[in-house]
Amino acid sequence: MLNWLFYRPTTGQQVKAANPWQEYWGETYAPELKRALLKPVFDKLESEDKIGSLIVDIGSGASPVTRLLASKPERKRICVDIAADNGGTPDELRVRFDAEKVGQAGVLSFRKALLKICGFLEIDLKSVGEVELVDTIVVSDILNYVDFRKVLGGFAEHVKPGGRLIVLNLPYRGNRLLFSGRGLKDNRELYSFLEERHFEIEYKNFPKRSRNVKDESEELLVLVARKRGGSGATARM
Ligand SMILES: C[S@@+](CC[C@H](N)C(=O)[O-])C[C@H]1O[C@@H](n2cnc3c(N)ncnc32)[C@H](O)[C@@H]1O
Repeated sequence: MLNWLFYRPTTGQQVKAANPWQEYWGETYAPELKRALLKPVFDKLESEDKIGSLIVDIGSGASPVTRLLASKPERKRICVDIAADNGGTPDELRVRFDAEKVGQAGVLSFRKALLKICGFLEIDLKSVGEVELVDTIVVSDILNYVDFRKVLGGFAEHVKPGGRLIVLNLPYRGNRLLFSGRGLKDNRELYSFLEERHFEIEYKNFPKRSRNVKDESEELLVLVARKRGGSGATARM
């Protein structure tokens, strides 16, 4: 059995807690695999100037894959995670937030997260709800754990026309105890969902699929989709 199929989060020290969340969400999740799969995609998009300045990493974990992207003076990354430490640097904000609550103006945690983000971006709170600000959203290894429609749908509204969504998805791999009943179980559901949300798929790859297999529904997927509109050219990948 290939070990990437059933990786378990690695931590310096596993915390035995009443809440299994604490015990299982460790520091990193197959970081070498993710580097190998995502870095070439990031590099290609970067070389074509298609990553942009404002990047949101949803379900970032403690070692966000978006740190594989180069730092630039104008670049800022917002790392959203239900277990984030609310810390940050001038170019990285880590926000503790349940991504399923995105867009729920009546929820205190959403309003608090927005306030932090506005402070970080040095913008007015009003402009966040109304303006599409985000250049690139990265969703690595989280769609099993959340209501993927709610999360992607909520965040996608804030992507600029011509902006991008980069997905690494491992259907059914990970900590099944924590899977959401509304997680993404079949990659094909993602394709139709993106189409409905006005994203066109520019690139998809199944790097662990055997040569003779044609089915893509449950394969490890790396995907780039571009929000329609805007002036940016479609990526040639
Ligand atoms: C398997 S880890 C992936 C971490 C990182 N993206 C990576 O690729 O290494 C899943 C992450 O999703 C986060 N997560 C799970 N449910 C979430 C939710 N509802 N809102 C925000 N983050 C969530 C967990 O805390 C965890 O850090």
